[in-house]
Amino acid sequence: MKNITVLITALIFGITSCKTAQQSVEEMEENTAAVVDGKDAITGLFLDENLKFVQAHCTGCHSSKLISMNRFTREGWKEKIVWMQQTQKLWDLGEAEPLVLDYLAKYYAPEERSLRRQPLEVKEWYELN
Ligand code: HEC
Repeated sequence: MKNITVLITALIFGITSCKTAQQSVEEMEENTAAVVDGKDAITGLFLDENLKFVQAHCTGCHSSKLISMNRFTREGWKEKIVWMQQTQKLWDLGEAEPLVLDYLAKYYAPEERSLRRQPLEVKEWYELN
């Protein structure tokens, strides 16, 4: 009797999890077909509500890799944009500029994490004889 209960539970569980797995595959195909590791598969840039502005203004002249391989502060990105406007015929980004900067500063900022170890903490000195 106990075995049958276990069997039935396993069956029901199996069926319901099959259904959810099937559903999530369908959802993935619908919504996220072009997503790899949280990034847009075409540009390789992080998904975000502001990505569309970056796609519209930043991927026409050069590869999006030029963005993803760089790390700047918000000010640094602003300087790059100004430089491209002065020398590379980049247009005025208008109302999209703060949104593009939000995006760049959020995902492509310099790493805070230092690779150096923390300094050693000396708790007790001892005399060398
Ligand atoms: C009108 C064309 C054009 C557009 C649009 C454009 N760029 Fe550029 N960008 C360039 C050119 C040209 C270079 C120099 C490429 C090179 O050195 O090979 C460049 C270089 C860069 C570099 C490298 C700078 C460096 O110091 O190495 C970054 C980062 C960059 N662009 C980001 C962006 C971003 C972010 C946007 C959107 C706001 C954007 N680009 C839009 C033309 C453009």
